[in-house]
Amino acid sequence: MNKPIDLRSDTVTKPTLDMRKAMLDAEVGDDVYREDPTVNKLQERSAELFGKEAGLYVPSGSMGNQIAVKTHTLPGQEVIGDSDCHLFNFEMSAMSQFAGVMPRMVYTKRGFLGLEDVKGAFKPGSDHTARTGMVALENTHNLRGGGIYPADEMKTVVDHVHKQDVPVHLDGARSLNAAVASSVTPAELTKGIDSVMFCFSKGLGAPVGSMVVGKRDFIEEAHHQRKRLGGGMRQAGIIAAGCLYALDHHIERLADDHAHAKMLGKALSEVGLDVDPVETNIIFCTTAEDNAQQVAEQLSSHGVLCFALGPNRLRMVTHLDVSAEDAQRACEVIKQILG
Ligand SMILES: Cc1ncc(COP(=O)(O)O)c(C=O)c1O
Repeated sequence: MNKPIDLRSDTVTKPTLDMRKAMLDAEVGDDVYREDPTVNKLQERSAELFGKEAGLYVPSGSMGNQIAVKTHTLPGQEVIGDSDCHLFNFEMSAMSQFAGVMPRMVYTKRGFLGLEDVKGAFKPGSDHTARTGMVALENTHNLRGGGIYPADEMKTVVDHVHKQDVPVHLDGARSLNAAVASSVTPAELTKGIDSVMFCFSKGLGAPVGSMVVGKRDFIEEAHHQRKRLGGGMRQAGIIAAGCLYALDHHIERLADDHAHAKMLGKALSEVGLDVDPVETNIIFCTTAEDNAQQVAEQLSSHGVLCFALGPNRLRMVTHLDVSAEDAQRACEVIKQILG
């Protein structure tokens, strides 16, 4: 029996042997005292990679987003975002509790706020309305199939929001996928954006952690908020070493995941499913009937694990632990079971 091909998420990756060796050799210190040399190095490398002044290593992407919201906003303000963004849908309404802010959700066709969307939702504050405290973007967009934010559109939105003196945060959990797929550097991709959160624990294959990057004074305040959330870690260099290894070895190879995702998308459309455009490592398709759960179970029972996200929506995600052979085998199972 072949081992299952796990396409449920890119969070399921396990650290490679070489990554584990790098972790074993990590120099560590107490990071709450800012004395962990490996964490410090990771924060500096990350800030440099994204062209920002400073970085803060956090335990998870959700915590990174929440810290950014809390640091940018005041209680009672609104955060504008796409209605399907991770921040509004999968973070347990934490921003309402922790930062005391309201989501101002805007439905968009592909998950990317355009200028008119932001203009329509924006509130400068009056005797009758709250103020917009932050605009949240997501690139790539998870629930909308790993699509890449069109660069011009993002720039227009960011420039407009800045004219209103409001900060922009990017949930860039998979921003490195977007950068690799668009052949631009992460710094170019996120130029002008006030803060970016990106994850090491997804396609980069590290076991734990995400990073928030931004201006030095923003990161200083974010550091305070991380501790408030219980996110102060001690000898975190052990896990940060896995992230440094990922920055050195696992960025360019994201292109392989994108190629495998395209193979799977093609196989799914060949068996008659309606597949969203595949731009990075996420594949979404719509099943003809409301039977996505049944299809996911059928595939899983033949060793291809994936998720039904909605009655007729099926999601697959490629990653470091899905080889070209695995992707090929998954395509064969799809054709055999669903064809
Ligand atoms: C777009 C996006 N943002 C944020 C997160 C949160 O990351 P974490 O699971 O590390 O909290 C995820 C996780 O899947 C995600 O897809």
